[in-house]
Amino acid sequence: MARTPLIAGNWKMVLDHQQGTLLVQKLDWTLKDAKHDHGAVEVAVLPSHTSLRTVQTLIEGDRLALKLGAQDVSAHESGAYTGEVSAAQLAKLGVTYVAVGHSERRQYHGEDDAVVRAKTRRALEHGLTPIVCVGEPLEVRREGTHVPFTVAQVTAALEDLQPAQVAGLVLAYEPVWAIGTGEFASPADAQEVCEALRAAVAGQFDAATAQAVRVLYGGSVKPANIASIMAQPDVDGALVGGASTDAGDFAAIVRYREHPA
Ligand code: 13P
Repeated sequence: MARTPLIAGNWKMVLDHQQGTLLVQKLDWTLKDAKHDHGAVEVAVLPSHTSLRTVQTLIEGDRLALKLGAQDVSAHESGAYTGEVSAAQLAKLGVTYVAVGHSERRQYHGEDDAVVRAKTRRALEHGLTPIVCVGEPLEVRREGTHVPFTVAQVTAALEDLQPAQVAGLVLAYEPVWAIGTGEFASPADAQEVCEALRAAVAGQFDAATAQAVRVLYGGSVKPANIASIMAQPDVDGALVGGASTDAGDFAAIVRYREHPA
């Protein structure tokens, strides 16, 4: 089964809604020319919650070929959770994707596997597509246990889900040591873990589910390294941080098919 590649830009806490608007307009302009095949690669942007409404209005109003994503979601349905944003609220805003378990949430906000699982389920209940993020810190990579470490994170996040739910979601392998450091995992490193995560899904669910689930790589993805990463058989896209806040760089990443691996 052919999996549609997904390039998602995680803006983190970088752009405000005006800067976000400008970026989306520039991005759309840059991707408009005839050489870019909009159907071949799905493109998503994940702004801060404060920019979601503005970016949604722009995407819908101008019918842009971009999907909207959020960077986080509450594990709770609704109620007295000051500062949190619910899956229902995101769904109402036309959000398609939501990142759960990003390493910055795990590291700075104490999110463990149980929280990531709860958020994944909550997102699915409201028709959002979770991008379940996993990845090992440097110590784990040095010990050589990055495969069992990331497989355990995925297995915990997907526990008790239905195969059809898993087939439709997205996994993202983001080694912590490669995030924002300029140090990117080699294409072979990315392939090793993405392949292992797919095999883990096959073991936990079934082969068809594993073939359908999309697995992204994230960590210092740039125009210069995206083509070699995308050439890996088990890598179905990228979760891009820093380079996604520059319209030219992000567009060049989206157009990876046009440059050599
Ligand atoms: P960088 O691309 O800045 O390394 O960030 C990766 C990331 O964390 C995307 O979610």
